[in-house]
Amino acid sequence: MTVSSAPGKVYLFGEHAVVYGEPAVPCAIERRATVSVEQRDDDRLRVHAEDLSLDGFTVEYSSDADATPDVDASESLVRAGVGYVDAAVSQAREVADAPDAGFDITIESAIPLGAGLGSSAAVTVAGIDAATRELGVELPATELADRAYRAELAVQDGEASRADTFCSATGGAVRVEGDDCRAIEAPDLPIVVGFDGGAGDTGELVAGVRALREEYDFAADTVESIGDVVRRGEDVLAVGDLEELGRLMSFNHGLLEALGVSSRSLDNMVWAARDAGALGAKLTGAGGGGCIVALDPTDETKTALQFTPGCEEAFRAELDTEGVRAEGP
Ligand code: MEV
Repeated sequence: MTVSSAPGKVYLFGEHAVVYGEPAVPCAIERRATVSVEQRDDDRLRVHAEDLSLDGFTVEYSSDADATPDVDASESLVRAGVGYVDAAVSQAREVADAPDAGFDITIESAIPLGAGLGSSAAVTVAGIDAATRELGVELPATELADRAYRAELAVQDGEASRADTFCSATGGAVRVEGDDCRAIEAPDLPIVVGFDGGAGDTGELVAGVRALREEYDFAADTVESIGDVVRRGEDVLAVGDLEELGRLMSFNHGLLEALGVSSRSLDNMVWAARDAGALGAKLTGAGGGGCIVALDPTDETKTALQFTPGCEEAFRAELDTEGVRAEGP
């Protein structure tokens, strides 16, 4: 059995706009998805998934069409559990030139699914790493990131940026603009995450922004303004000015709100963080529900979020400088 883990992430800046070539700055956090892979002697896949926000299910199949879980799990969860794993396995089979390799796969994740913390990227990166190593091939982190990006593209109907998968593969804070992905320096960030227990549909939310952008020039301008905030944010990150960083994150939230990807619970959590004196707060990831990220060196924001209606969990998250990691042989 081969085991790998990869971190989730928060977006300090730039989600959605990154899909249109603007820069984004995601940042890996110390919450990981762990994928264990054991090769079978047939070509079937058996996937057992457990996650912070679901009880877990097991599904065994040889093609997507006969994938029926052992418990009554929602279709979107099974799609999430099976789609990304399937795409990761395809990449591993291609890399190792083993088209008929079958696997027993277990996913354990401390990152809630679809909540803006990069669970699908973490599962895809850790899954490709574990499956290729199980087949005797070691991939460098940058190739792994590229393979994981292609896997995400396949699952998300061609709508994905390299941001989530690159950040999860390499760890740390990164800057992504189109195909250009690089590590950047970041100071210690007092990150607090609030989670509303829900999830958004990334494909639907990305399509919604695309439609707005096509309908209104000012929506296209809003996407470009997010790019301006990100460029300013990068300079501020480099000098470690946390107050200005927070202000820019709050500005970024306002622009995402204007693009229709926030939700009442995300806005409630952002306001609770602001009222508690956070340096800044914004939704993270695709939006529609899920998580916010705030900056607060004190305990005030975490405590306020714990008492905010609609917030299910609030936690402090450290920057994770390590990307994908071998946890077992
Ligand atoms: C989703 O985590 C981030 C989006 O920008 C989509 C992407 O970059 O692939 C909304």
